[in-house]
Amino acid sequence: MEVSINHNKSEVEIYQECVVHLENIIVSSDKLISNLSNFVALLKQAFTKISWIGFYIKENDKLFLGPFQGNSACTEIKFGNGVCGTSALTQQIIIVEDVNNFPNHITCDSKSKSEIVVPIVINMQTWGVLDLDSYSTSAFSDIDKKYLIKCISILTKNIDLNTFILR
Ligand code: SME
Repeated sequence: MEVSINHNKSEVEIYQECVVHLENIIVSSDKLISNLSNFVALLKQAFTKISWIGFYIKENDKLFLGPFQGNSACTEIKFGNGVCGTSALTQQIIIVEDVNNFPNHITCDSKSKSEIVVPIVINMQTWGVLDLDSYSTSAFSDIDKKYLIKCISILTKNIDLNTFILR
């Protein structure tokens, strides 16, 4: 399906467009992996500042790499490690303005300068995280935080994330 995004709009307007598109493309009758794949594809297409976007999904005490857009990345992250593992453990959104200043940051792409990680929590349990990277410092702000929460809520309201088949 073709989705067109107007890159000349403000970030808020682009996110508002994404929300409308997500309401249409996240479909409960589709497979979870298909919905997650379309989710990251839409946001990557929408924002040129995103160098990498993807899901890391919890299994036991680790996160494993899920659907993503961008360069190949680390396949496993232990809870508590890196920005993703810290967000998964604390269930807090983490905005990193400069990855050089985040102790334990895990480098998957040396050109990555800033990052936002949003935990996905279902019934108080961490299901996984959504991770976004940028080649610019301070690329992510409270606007991203607000709208990524909204985008994730479209996923969690329309589909049962716990149907994910790991193997
Ligand atoms: N930088 C992340 C690792 C994942 S990659 O950025 C895709 C972290 O520190 O958890």
